[in-house]
Amino acid sequence: MRISDKLGARLQELGVELRPSVPLSEKTSLGIGGTTDQLLLRKFETIPGVMHLLANENIPHRFLGGGTNVLIADGELPYVVLHLPTSQPGMRVEGNAAYVDAAADLGGMVTFCAKRDLGGMEGLIGVPGSVGGALRMNAGAYGTQIGSYVREVELYRASTGKLETLRGDDIRFDYRHTSFAPDDVMLRVKLELPQKPFKEILAAIKICNEKRRASQPLNQKSAGCIFKNPPGGSAGRMIDELGLKGHRAGDAMVSDRHANFFVNVANASCADMLRLIDEVRERVRVTYGIELENEVIFWKN
Ligand code: EPU
Repeated sequence: MRISDKLGARLQELGVELRPSVPLSEKTSLGIGGTTDQLLLRKFETIPGVMHLLANENIPHRFLGGGTNVLIADGELPYVVLHLPTSQPGMRVEGNAAYVDAAADLGGMVTFCAKRDLGGMEGLIGVPGSVGGALRMNAGAYGTQIGSYVREVELYRASTGKLETLRGDDIRFDYRHTSFAPDDVMLRVKLELPQKPFKEILAAIKICNEKRRASQPLNQKSAGCIFKNPPGGSAGRMIDELGLKGHRAGDAMVSDRHANFFVNVANASCADMLRLIDEVRERVRVTYGIELENEVIFWKN
């Protein structure tokens, strides 16, 4: 989608940097995604004004975080993509509390806190993506989920058009699911973390890194796990048992290392990836009677 010069000038007055015609395949870990205009926001305070302007001009938009858990359609996209501001390093620590910008890198946050003797999040170390994306999805690994440590979230609430602060107790964090509204935009989070010596945290981080390296295709283009695990089950194990490792649809392939990771082996399109997802879901449904739910977020046009 193209922003007109006239609207572009008004957005620039609000401090927005406009990048025309950006291939989102360069912004996602899957290396998949069509083209659209990209708007870089500079200050949280300007978000309500920018959103108001886009609504008045009937410009559909989506916020893109780290791009590590999203599958974006091919071709020219019918919406613009917004990026949140972040200062450097986008995080600070005060006692047991960490204050982190949503646009900050999740792994960067874990190590920043670790160096200040704040632990608890060791399991999240290899999870790629932004803090905002992790919050929205309640990202988790190796027994840790980010929601356990959340005390406050500052967000832009599209339904009121305002910046608001929610208390952690008022947010539900379930397995890869939260009670945020779909159009809430995470801006900043306050976490409360247990004190732990850096050396201990580092040792736990190393163990998680080794487990991850041993079981996941870290050097290939993927969006992590494609499906959520069904209650009490493992999507990866079922897909593996069906002998589907290495199964392909075009350039999209079930990883031969971890069967719930689907990788882009060369130039996979969104259509390839969707075909592979549908085929595998169907095979699991027929054999196990289980309908797997996507873990990856599909941005349908
Ligand atoms: N397994 C197989 N074959 C495979 C993959 C897994 O037999 O190809 C078996 C494993 O041997 C193990 C079981 O399935 O007995 C579970 O596998 P694993 O420990 O790799 O965990 P997972 O349930 O597949 C979950 C998360 C991962 C997270 C890991 C580690 C989901 C959907 N996935 O994977 O998160 O990294 O645990 O905690 O909850 C993600 O969210 O994108 C993601 C990768």
